[in-house]
Amino acid sequence: MTAVIVAGNWKMNLGPRDAELFLDAFAAVFGGSGEPADGQARPGGCRVALFPPAVSLDAARRRKAQLEESGAWGRAPALELGVQQIHAEADGAFTGETSAEQASQAGATLALVGHSERRTIFHETDDMVVRRVQAAFRAGLAPMLCVGEQLEERKAGRLEAVLLRQLEAVLSPPELRAGIRPETFSVAYEPVWAIGTGETATPDDAAEAHAILRGCLVDRLGEEIGAAIPILYGGSVKPANADELLAAPEVGGLLVGGASLDPGDFAALVGAGGRAGS
Ligand code: PGA
Repeated sequence: MTAVIVAGNWKMNLGPRDAELFLDAFAAVFGGSGEPADGQARPGGCRVALFPPAVSLDAARRRKAQLEESGAWGRAPALELGVQQIHAEADGAFTGETSAEQASQAGATLALVGHSERRTIFHETDDMVVRRVQAAFRAGLAPMLCVGEQLEERKAGRLEAVLLRQLEAVLSPPELRAGIRPETFSVAYEPVWAIGTGETATPDDAAEAHAILRGCLVDRLGEEIGAAIPILYGGSVKPANADELLAAPEVGGLLVGGASLDPGDFAALVGAGGRAGS
């Protein structure tokens, strides 16, 4: 079975110093080289990723290396780092932007693309999302494509149409399809009405949306690749609801905002991923 992924999206929280303190505390939950301190946080076969703000990436990378070298990382799981947002170009006169190449230099191996806050607050279109996925591949980053419907779209019965539009945009260009593998691409279903609201989709809601996405992935990429692309659920995930969401069909991981800011909660979520993946 493909490993479950537990990913934390810090959004515009935790600067470089905070990122170091977070990683110290996260490693400490796993008790250095001993047993996990809370008896719960066993990473098992879980893949763990964090998306810090771009300014905190390098600090997170360095602290992780220091903790590993000193042995303090102990039984904490291997950690992948990702960037929350990339520009389509590699460099140039784009004040304030970060390119995929720069994020890679700072320690990222993953890139979130098309997060709903980017789509709604910063007016990113499907076309811009496609160009950012291209940029991620160009720099050797694995894009995690975020898709999800607004509440009005859901109420109007447009769940399937919205999800397919957002996913098809990225799967349509042949050169993009050619680069997509389960190790290089993942999808995160995040219903916009469930993000940061405390309102979580039910496992049935998640299963319905994930089935739509899986069908499209298999249709466009073939059974072997399409069935293996990880699809994560995101939207008000917490330690208390992680197990039931991970038990829903086709939910292969979690993308977590608010609850990923607390090292203890994030470690508990990693524990849930470990249980689901074992
Ligand atoms: P949330 O955010 O867990 O705070 O709802 C999820 C996300 O936006 O990725």
